[in-house]
Formats: sequence, structure tokens, C-alpha cells
Amino acid sequence: MSWLSEYYGYINLLAIAGAAATVIITAFVAAIYFKNIKSAKKSGELSSDSWDGIKEYKNPLPLGWAVSFLVLCIWAIWYMLAPVGLPFTYPLGAYSQIGEYNEEVAAYNEKFTAQWQNADEATLKDMGESVFIVQCAPCHGLDKSGIGGKAADLTTWGSKAAAIDSVVHGSKGLDYPLGEMAPLLGGLISSEDEVRLAVEYWSKYISDTQDAANANEAEYNAWSVCASCHDIDGSGMEGSAPDLRNYGKSAFVVDVLNRGKDGYIGNMPSFNDGRLTDIQKQAVSAYVLSDRQ
Ligand code: HEC
Ligand code: HEC
Repeated sequence: MSWLSEYYGYINLLAIAGAAATVIITAFVAAIYFKNIKSAKKSGELSSDSWDGIKEYKNPLPLGWAVSFLVLCIWAIWYMLAPVGLPFTYPLGAYSQIGEYNEEVAAYNEKFTAQWQNADEATLKDMGESVFIVQCAPCHGLDKSGIGGKAADLTTWGSKAAAIDSVVHGSKGLDYPLGEMAPLLGGLISSEDEVRLAVEYWSKYISDTQDAANANEAEYNAWSVCASCHDIDGSGMEGSAPDLRNYGKSAFVVDVLNRGKDGYIGNMPSFNDGRLTDIQKQAVSAYVLSDRQ
């Protein structure tokens, strides 16, 4: 036992002595009760109720027990509500390691945001590259090409070809109120040429917003099919469908990161859980869209 007392002082010995005493007293008390079960005679006052001759003893609550019960109730209410730091009360407002961690992360993020708020495109791209390698490359590949179709090919995503592909094969999982864009070919649209015309209109007058006054009529007519969901200006009917003015741009990537995508190709998680700050989302979008053409 000497190593115990040398290393920990007398505290451990005291605890062991306490445990031994508890065991001995418990055994002793239990033995008394066992003895009573065998030999004790009934005593005490019977209540006046009788059920087929079976009567009950009057067992009023011991005063000490009742008082401590009441005091504990009051203490429990105080414990929940005592205003240590308004607006939070004791258990909610008290110190916790998770709380301290969250506060430190929030303070760091604030500092991070202040430092990089006005970062230029090149800085964002560099920051975005390191975010991409950690957060996106496992699914999209270091070369952004989607690892042979496991995830979206980000080298072409947002292009006219990718838009045509989305319309022909459908797109789902961004969780817009209009739901999924079912494959339109054979439904609302009869030929792939028409899709091409619609996307041509999108590319010129929605994505690039040239003056649509002298738009080609065939392109305009094809686009008007898309307009039934995306609106004639591509803005997406106040959030009912994606805003195609941004398709292929940073704002759309950020939107995808916030929503996640439960798509036809596979599932992409939402990054709206604090993993990335707003600036990191912009940065990774800048990196995704960099080195194009
Ligand atoms: C029936 C309504 C509807 C019509 C018509 C429609 N879309 Fe969509 N579109 C949607 C919805 C809803 C989404 C979001 C789908 C998702 O969750 O991925 C979408 C998404 C898209 C996307 C983004 C795909 C992606 O990868 O995120 C493009 C590009 C697009 N539509 C282009 C078009 C074009 C071009 C047309 C016309 C030829 C068209 N849409 C017609 C409802 C529609
Ligand atoms: C767990 C795997 C996974 C991770 C991690 C992931 N993605 Fe994706 N991503 C996907 C899949 C799968 C799709 C295709 C979804 C579909 O259309 O079926 C996709 C689609 C996309 C799209 C196209 C969305 C559209 O509307 O068509 C973009 C842009 C994108 N990812 C960017 C990112 C970025 C940036 C990151 C890192 C911050 C990332 N992804 C991380 C799996 C992932």
C-alpha cells in the first residue's frame, strides 16, 4: 500500500477506507432487516379502511423526508432558472468545454473573415485550392473531373454542354420547391436541337445578358419552355427553381454547397454545417471555376 500513499497522498486510502466501511455497514443493515423479516411482530396503527378484511397500516411520511423532498424541489427549480448570466440560466449559461470551443471557433472565424474579406481573386483561388483538396477532391478528384463519373465533372459543369446534358438527362436533388427537373426530352421538348437552341438563348441573353431585343425567334421559343419554370429572365420564379443567371458562376456553386445535392449521379452533402465559412465557400468556388478556357 505504500506506493498508493506515497503517490497519491492519503486521499486514495481514505476513499478505500470509505468504500470498505460502506460495504460493511450495508451488510450489517441488510442482516438486521433479514432478521426482522423472520422474527418481527406487527406493530403500528391500522387505518379504518378494510378490503375483504385486509387492512393497511397508517404510514405517514416522516417529517424529515417530506421537508428534504420539498427543499430539493425548490433547489431543482432554482438550479434550472437561477440567472447566472441572462439571457441564459444556470445549466444553460454555465461553463462547458463545448461552449468554450464554439466561442473560440466563432472568434477565430470572425478574425478570419475580417482578414480575408476583401481578398482578391488570386488569393481566393489559392485558398480555394487547399479547401478543395481536403473537402471536394475525395469525390470530385484532384483534377476536378469527377473520378470517372462518381461525382459531377467540374471541368465542364456550368458550360453549355453541361446545361444541355442536365436538360436531356434531368437534374434533381437541389431541393427547390419545384422539385426535380425530370428529363425534358420526349416530354416538354421534342428534339435535342430544341434543347440546344434554348441553351443558346440562355448562354447569350441570360448568362451573358446581351440585349435580347433582336434575339433569334427559334431560340426564344425554345427558351420559353424553360421559362415556365426558370422565368423568362432565368431568375427562377423567386426561388422556385435555380437562378440560371448564376449557373456556371460562383454564386451557383455557393448555393450548391449550402443545399447539397441528392442527385441522379450521387449524393453531395451540404456544407452548411459550419465546416466552411462564407469566405471559404467563395474561395473554393473561385478555384472550381478557375483555369477555364
Ligand atoms: C418543369 C420545370 C422546369 C423546366 C420546364 C425546366 N427546368 Fe431546369 N430546372 C428545374 C428545376 C426544379 C431544377 C433544379 C433541379 C435540381 O434539383 O437539381 C432545374 C435545374 C436546371 C439547371 C441546373 C442543373 C444543375 O446541374 O444544377 C439547368 C442548367 C437548367 N435547369 C436548365 C434548363 C433549361 C435550359 C430548360 C429549358 C430547355 C429548363 N431548365 C427547363 C425545373 C425546370
Ligand atoms: C461525398 C462526395 C462529394 C463531396 C465531398 C463533394 N461533392 Fe460536389 N458533387 C458530388 C456529387 C455526387 C455530385 C453530382 C450530384 C448529381 O447531380 O447527382 C456533385 C455535384 C457538384 C456540383 C454540381 C452541382 C449541380 O447543380 O449540378 C458542384 C458545383 C460541386 N459538386 C461542387 C463541390 C465542391 C466545391 C465541393 C467541396 C467543397 C464538393 N462538391 C464536395 C459529390 C461530392
